[in-house]
Amino acid sequence: METKQLLSGFKEIFGKDGDRIFFSPGRINLIGEHTDYNGGKVFPCAITMGTYAAVSMREDQSIQAYSENFPNDGIITFDLSTIQYKKGDKWTNYLKGMVRYIQEKYGELPNGFDIYIYGNIPNGASLSSSASLELLTGVVVRELFDLEIEQLDLVKLGMRTENEFLGLNSGILDQFAVGMAEKAHAMLLDTNTLEYEQIPVELPEHKILIMNSMTRRELVDSEYNLRRKQCEEALAKLQTVLSIESLGALSEETFEANKAVIGDDVLTRRAKHAVYENKRTERAAEALKAGDLKTFGQLMNKSHTSLHEDYEVTVKETDLLVRLAWKQPGVVGARMTGGGFGGCCIAIVEQDAVEDFIENVEAAYLAEIGHPGEIYIAETADGTKEWDLA
Ligand code: GLA
Repeated sequence: METKQLLSGFKEIFGKDGDRIFFSPGRINLIGEHTDYNGGKVFPCAITMGTYAAVSMREDQSIQAYSENFPNDGIITFDLSTIQYKKGDKWTNYLKGMVRYIQEKYGELPNGFDIYIYGNIPNGASLSSSASLELLTGVVVRELFDLEIEQLDLVKLGMRTENEFLGLNSGILDQFAVGMAEKAHAMLLDTNTLEYEQIPVELPEHKILIMNSMTRRELVDSEYNLRRKQCEEALAKLQTVLSIESLGALSEETFEANKAVIGDDVLTRRAKHAVYENKRTERAAEALKAGDLKTFGQLMNKSHTSLHEDYEVTVKETDLLVRLAWKQPGVVGARMTGGGFGGCCIAIVEQDAVEDFIENVEAAYLAEIGHPGEIYIAETADGTKEWDLA
């Protein structure tokens, strides 16, 4: 996206000049899925697909928001002092939640602003378009009003927006990845302590591909909340015999030795995924640091199998994409990424094999599913920030 284009969009809609530009990335999670609300590790990086904003101050107390992606919604206006969730306000709810919680914590804003948004993260594709918009809003507000807010605090407010404003009991993975990322790195984050390490993702001979199934199941949010509840139930059972605070505290051995206490097949499989996936994530990050891409890829594959068999958050389309990927020459590993129930998968592929990979997987996917998928080459990005217009 050209900043010029963004500014001319702003002018056309608001009839005046926008004077500042911000960018917030999307994310892929390399491994560590459904571990973040279980006190486990995640290993995401931010990507150059993201959400842009052009903004300018207003003199009154209202925020006027327009998205180039949803032109039919027109300009959505709301007042700083009466911010409430409204289903009909769709995408602006992310923005509203952030503004409301920032005001709650850091005081009322003196005036509103106009914001023109454009995003190129496919919606509902599990690439965190919502966290991208939340952090974008947070950074816009902080910079416009010179507030002293740490990026990590915006990350936490983003999660709060998701949990309390939107009602999705998600963990901190998405907001953390979007807010804290460094280009050419993935973050090994301990979601229990929020300690993290930026690990270089230098793959001179490989590409990370994003395979979009172009499908998303209904009821994603309620299925997601159910998975979380099931993990909590399994944890409560384990806590009758073990003194642990989260599933992330368990080794595979301790889990195996004590799992009988859970007494339910579904709950046991959910907990097993959380425990094993956490350990896989630690090992995968070690492997990447040691330049052992082969092991990394094998762990990605195991992660997918576990998400398919034990956690049951894959669907026909994402399973097919991953199975097709596994069969291609030059593939190091592949798995679904994000919450699941549709959305995207990722694959690490030798550079020379990328072209054939894309052609083969796209053709076979279309033939079997009946509608096309999309494959993109992922480039890593920095976390949310203002762009210098000079
Ligand atoms: C969604 C949630 C995250 C995380 C992932 C699964 O993206 O927003 O918090 O739980 O699913 O790893």
